[in-house]
Amino acid sequence: MSDGVPAKRRMESKRKVRDLQSAGAQPKEGRCHSMTAGRNLKEQVRVHIRWMIRRDMPEVLQTERQSFEHAWSEEDFLRCLRQRNCIGMVAEIEENVVGFMIYELHKTKLHVLNFAVAPQYRRLGIGRQMIHKLIAKLSSHRRTRVTLAVRETNLPAQLFFRSMTFRAVKVLRGYYEDSGEDAFLMQYQLPNDTALSDDLDEIYDRVSSRDD
Ligand SMILES: CC(C)(COP(=O)(O)OP(=O)(O)OC[C@H]1O[C@@H](n2cnc3c(N)ncnc32)[C@H](O)[C@@H]1OP(=O)(O)O)[C@@H](O)C(=O)NCCC(=O)NCCS
Repeated sequence: MSDGVPAKRRMESKRKVRDLQSAGAQPKEGRCHSMTAGRNLKEQVRVHIRWMIRRDMPEVLQTERQSFEHAWSEEDFLRCLRQRNCIGMVAEIEENVVGFMIYELHKTKLHVLNFAVAPQYRRLGIGRQMIHKLIAKLSSHRRTRVTLAVRETNLPAQLFFRSMTFRAVKVLRGYYEDSGEDAFLMQYQLPNDTALSDDLDEIYDRVSSRDD
């Protein structure tokens, strides 16, 4: 497919993607030695974020299965995306879908239902760019918050959202039908919205104590 990109540059980009894949695929312990190199690579990763289309589904499903023990089926995705207030977005590098997000539009907030980055592309700032894209859709006079439920045991996601200045605002007891597990309701709020409840210290502590 011709995309107007000179062949040499496209090949260099492909090589960069391969380099990034191998950087992202390193086990956590291995990342420590190469932190500087990792950060340089991360600065180069710019994803293209766009609406999800039907053709993306195989890659989305693959990332879903690699990311979650209780993965959504294709029918789960389609049922959700058929709702008028439900939107799918993907992040791509070259023509590879490397992350996706499903969210709902509500009157005063955006609620994320599903979100993952392909394992070999994690810790490269892709999730951050997707959340920034979502936050950019908020407006001070209409939708002022982003919310989502995260499993109590999903510490990496809790740390990710906390680094994006989300805060746990509620414990949802027995939220997940599959395991009976609790969820934390996490929320990002535009700075000038004062609706955030005050009595959150216990919840903050509970999340923080998992960060040792
Ligand atoms: C959560 C997830 C989407 C994050 O995507 P990502 O592209 O790897 O995140 P980023 O690279 O943008 O991370 C941004 C920051 O979040 C924090 N962070 C991300 N992953 C982390 C982890 N595993 N442990 C600790 N902190 C983490 C870090 O502060 C990171 O910045 P740094 O790499 O400079 O230290 C990804 O880990 C994922 O797909 N997980 C499986 C699916 C999932 O749990 N989805 C959320 C369901 S609620």
